[in-house]
Amino acid sequence: MPPGILVTAGPTREYLDPVRFLSNPSSGKMGYYIAEEARRRGFRTLLIAGPCSLPEGPLRKISVNSARELHKAVRRYFGRFDVLVMTAAVCDYRPATCRRWKIKKSREALEIRLTPNPDILAWAGRRKMSKLLIGFAAETDHVIENAREKMIRKNLDAIVANRVGRCGAGFDSDSIDYVLLDNSQPVPVRLRRRKKQSAAKEIVDFILYKLKTGKN
Ligand code: CTP
Repeated sequence: MPPGILVTAGPTREYLDPVRFLSNPSSGKMGYYIAEEARRRGFRTLLIAGPCSLPEGPLRKISVNSARELHKAVRRYFGRFDVLVMTAAVCDYRPATCRRWKIKKSREALEIRLTPNPDILAWAGRRKMSKLLIGFAAETDHVIENAREKMIRKNLDAIVANRVGRCGAGFDSDSIDYVLLDNSQPVPVRLRRRKKQSAAKEIVDFILYKLKTGKN
């Protein structure tokens, strides 16, 4: 059987009433390109995507909305795949309650209590065994140091340290400022800018190399 890769992509939406949600501007493109590249190169591929518009095509895809739905889908499919790549921009918090009816405006200030969402990648890191786990870290500052810390904390094989600009810049672009950090090779590295398609190719090359050498 060909190796299997599970990729997550896009934002999550955390509803506070039937018509309003917290989210982020993730386009889902990075995950889509990785999944598409892996499919083209013979992997069994499944893309689990939050709400974003991705091209139709032969890629097997499941749609989810919230972080909890994404977690449920990852829990369901994790065991059937050899590799998990988490590019999804998961909302760390959700409103503590989602109102059944639309919140009506009033002259009073409105406070929204948020409660933490599960950390899906950390969940996977605790069940890693021989699977290959790759995370993404979107950072505004201390990009490489923060990403490395997340890679270790979440028990990952590798992480893509990704510099994003202020207020959304970098999320919806066709290029990415990044470097792929390999947990087993703590060598000094520098960020570079590439089209997301060529970054996807580099990431899939890395995955193939890791699977071939069994170094995870
Ligand atoms: N991630 C996840 N579940 C979450 C939050 C993040 O699985 N609830 C994953 C992302 O898909 C990404 C990696 O963890 O691959 C790092 O995400 P990031 O948002 O950069 O890190 P956080 O752990 O949320 O830390 P912080 O937001 O404090 O930087």
